[in-house]
Amino acid sequence: MDLSKVMRTTAATREFTPEPVDDAVLHRILDHARFAPSGGNRQGWDVIVVRDRQIRVAVRDLCVLGWREYIAHVERGQVPFAPIDHGRWTGPAVDLEAARAVERPAPFVDHLDTVPVMLIVTARLDQLAVLDNGLDRQSIVGGASIYPFIQNLALAARDVGLGAAVTTFLVRQEPAARALLHLPDGVAIASLVAMGHPVRQLTKLRRRPVEDFTRVDTYNGPAFTG
Ligand SMILES: Cc1cc2nc3c(=O)[nH]c(=O)nc-3n(C[C@H](O)[C@H](O)[C@H](O)COP(=O)(O)O)c2cc1C
Repeated sequence: MDLSKVMRTTAATREFTPEPVDDAVLHRILDHARFAPSGGNRQGWDVIVVRDRQIRVAVRDLCVLGWREYIAHVERGQVPFAPIDHGRWTGPAVDLEAARAVERPAPFVDHLDTVPVMLIVTARLDQLAVLDNGLDRQSIVGGASIYPFIQNLALAARDVGLGAAVTTFLVRQEPAARALLHLPDGVAIASLVAMGHPVRQLTKLRRRPVEDFTRVDTYNGPAFTG
């Protein structure tokens, strides 16, 4: 597929047919994704292909808790876990324990254990050049050495007609996931990526136009219109 078409049509796919994904196809996707850039080319990502039924169910249960925390924020009109105080996080906007106790049926997360491919992408934190460490605001740069790889997974999947959902709800329960997945100290969960044959291919993505987010010379300069 044409690269620009792949970039413009890689939607978050959350519904998959039961058709399995061939290991050779998954290997090729990983093999394309590995050409992602990273600070100092340190390539601090690792991937766990989760196949074991019990681990999958346990992962799903943890994601369900993360989903409940997330949706409780959304219902309060809050961007979940956003650092809204001058770029700093001041704590959850809801009672997380109470939020985790409330059932929030949602087909994707409730059936996450059945997705054809479950990948957990981890980051070796000591390999991340986090150049915004120590600034008086939320750090964001470290993830930039991992998420291009994750987006490459989604793009490579789309290129062969598969769909993928990049998710972060597992991160909310990272302490429990560490034990489950035997993650060593200094390794963080970046994403759970679900992948499979899409039930339907969404091709019309809603995104802000260029003029909306591109300015000339200064942050509040005139829109760049091309
Ligand atoms: C960093 C990141 C975290 C995300 N976390 C989740 C998640 O936990 N659960 C989920 O269902 N989707 C998750 N998504 C998918 C987004 O909801 C999706 O990219 C966005 O709504 C745009 O959807 P579209 O590409 O279908 O238009 C995440 C996406 C990104 C890039």
